[in-house]
Amino acid sequence: MQSLKVNLPGNRSYPIYVGTGCLDKLGEMLRLYMKTSKFILITDEQVASHYSGVFLPSFEKAKLHLDTIVVPAGEQTKNIETYHDLMTRFLELGAARDWAVIAFGGGVVGDLAGFAAATYMRGIPFVQVPTTLLAQVDASVGGKTGINHPRAKNIIGAFHQPALVWIDLAVLRTLGQRDLISGLAEVIKYGIIHDRDFFAFCEKNRTLLLEKDEHVLSDAVLRSCAIKADIVARDEREHSVRAFLNFGHTIGHALENLGGYERIRHGEAVFLGMLAEARLSTQLGLLSQTEYQRIERLLRQIPLQAVIEGIEPDRVMEVMRHDKKVQAGRLRYVLPISIGEMHIIEEPDPGLVREAVLHVLNDGWVCR
Ligand SMILES: NC(=O)c1ccc[n+]([C@@H]2O[C@H](COP(=O)([O-])OP(=O)(O)OC[C@H]3O[C@@H](n4cnc5c(N)ncnc54)[C@H](O)[C@@H]3O)[C@@H](O)[C@H]2O)c1
Repeated sequence: MQSLKVNLPGNRSYPIYVGTGCLDKLGEMLRLYMKTSKFILITDEQVASHYSGVFLPSFEKAKLHLDTIVVPAGEQTKNIETYHDLMTRFLELGAARDWAVIAFGGGVVGDLAGFAAATYMRGIPFVQVPTTLLAQVDASVGGKTGINHPRAKNIIGAFHQPALVWIDLAVLRTLGQRDLISGLAEVIKYGIIHDRDFFAFCEKNRTLLLEKDEHVLSDAVLRSCAIKADIVARDEREHSVRAFLNFGHTIGHALENLGGYERIRHGEAVFLGMLAEARLSTQLGLLSQTEYQRIERLLRQIPLQAVIEGIEPDRVMEVMRHDKKVQAGRLRYVLPISIGEMHIIEEPDPGLVREAVLHVLNDGWVCR
């Protein structure tokens, strides 16, 4: 297995392990690494249908106690009701401060289980075992946990760093193409916000990434995790560079919300948001046409399945006002000024924002 580290002050640093076919080693690893011997694994129905029981032998061998809670799959699960049910189950199981949570699933399970761990008894440890590409390259690293409110995404949450991230690339074999593509949005995002060479890697290996080539995916996951770990180590609480990770998310979150969190997956919304925000950057004179066309070319080559019909640009503008990125009443956008370099802009001309949104909603590039 390969490993890297998220370096944080105090005792909050943690390792990220990346391997292929390593789920059945988790018990032994936790025995060595964690102080606790009692775990609650939270997963969703779809992940459970593929991997039910996969941890049991290694937990039994390591003499670790394991309870499992299965929640419904999908973004709709990341809500206050499911969170409340989890608290009830934790109490019924007799979970105490010396227990830990394992988030085994995509970003939805990671955010929900992480938030449950962050708040139960004012915080118990948790471990991320991400099973989607999006969760492996982004959601499982950095300690952002939370749930949605019907009016705003991720608005209820806490920073709570995992004790360990355990990535098994083999689980991506069962991941559907639509969710693979969702994860590719965040992979390509790292190239645009931080690493020109990595963007070129994505351009060169686009087809292999879409075909789930394991060597290329392994390089992409390791490089993405390294970039995220570096950014989080420099700015854990998003006072500066961590905000760059929000590229594509201001418009993206509004689209995701208006799609009812079903018609448009999170990563798909980030794709659309990145395209709109890159265009906005060009219209503002920050990003050259050549750089914009390079970004647009790569994004357009990825076959999205999001359903965007019926979404009105004015509603997108309205929903964005509730975004977490509003500060002192002013909406902030993270925009590329070249591939690998970002800039934060406050309250750009709403006419240009609306035009960029309209461009993405109208141009029919999304495969339906
Ligand atoms: N905390 C963060 O820093 C952060 C960062 C990015 C995104 N997020 C959050 O992540 C969420 C999106 O995550 P996601 O795209 O992973 O969605 P998801 O968790 O809903 O997973 C997508 C689908 O894939 C299924 N699935 C998961 N792993 C599978 C596997 N190995 N094989 C087959 N099916 C599998 C799930 O059951 C689900 O149906 C959003 O809520 C977003 O806000 C959080």
